[in-house]
Amino acid sequence: MNNYTLTVLGNRDTGAEITGLDLRQPIDEATRAQLNAALGQYAILVFRDQKLTADNMQKAGELFGDLRRHQRRNAQFAGNPWVSEIKNEPVFSASGKPIYQGESFHTDHSNETVPPKATALHPLALPDSGGDTQFVNVQNAYDDLSESMKQRLEGLKARHVFESKYSPREIRKPDAQSQKEVPPPVIHPLVRNHPETGRKFLYLNPVRIESIIGMPDNEAQSLIRELVAHATQSKYEYRHKWVSGDMVIWDNRCVMHKANPDYDMRQLRHLMRILIKGSLPPNEIADAITAH
Ligand SMILES: [Fe+2]
Repeated sequence: MNNYTLTVLGNRDTGAEITGLDLRQPIDEATRAQLNAALGQYAILVFRDQKLTADNMQKAGELFGDLRRHQRRNAQFAGNPWVSEIKNEPVFSASGKPIYQGESFHTDHSNETVPPKATALHPLALPDSGGDTQFVNVQNAYDDLSESMKQRLEGLKARHVFESKYSPREIRKPDAQSQKEVPPPVIHPLVRNHPETGRKFLYLNPVRIESIIGMPDNEAQSLIRELVAHATQSKYEYRHKWVSGDMVIWDNRCVMHKANPDYDMRQLRHLMRILIKGSLPPNEIADAITAH
């Protein structure tokens, strides 16, 4: 067994810090199984004191499953097709407004038939202050819903598109090549079961959910707003203040996350990013494909 120390960071088992483990060194099978169980239990793992190259980052991600390539081909980092980068270079919308990636709560790539299981980031450069990533645990948020709301949500399915016409923010448009690979809309249940722990969670993404099947849009959007307001209360949150050397991986199903563009944009914020492939039960895959 590799030695390490795990410390719980947030409320109700949301987030755990891992110290004493060097992700560049071989990790044995028993430790790997423990880390995967910890990701299931705590949803966010913060590995401290790492200094990873793109290849190290790829290997660290593979501890948690197979990786998947990024949609945006031009986001590949250091020649490694499994690693992309996030940089605070200004990108502007058609109306001239700056677009900051990930600045409202979302889950990554929910508009895919099989969305990623997890996302991981490792900073290469950080601003002096600000730029935290906020996470909310949508399992705890589900548990706290009233019984009548749980019953109302039972069986409801949402249609996820690349960018919902009701999205609270504009998202960066794909380049011409990546545009062809944007998947058609998909359908996912609003309440899903975690494939490993069995816990129920709200599967919300206000950026991509455009409708709920069988419900008028105004009613659907009002329900989504109500659920998002509930799920993003600070009692469900772990707010990560980045420190050089952090490698943070989160379960992309049972947490939502957001970035904060609240720092001096003249300072570089640069991170490597990887995505771990997800899986869905066969009935959910069938539903997701039905929307095509
Ligand atoms: Fe994201």
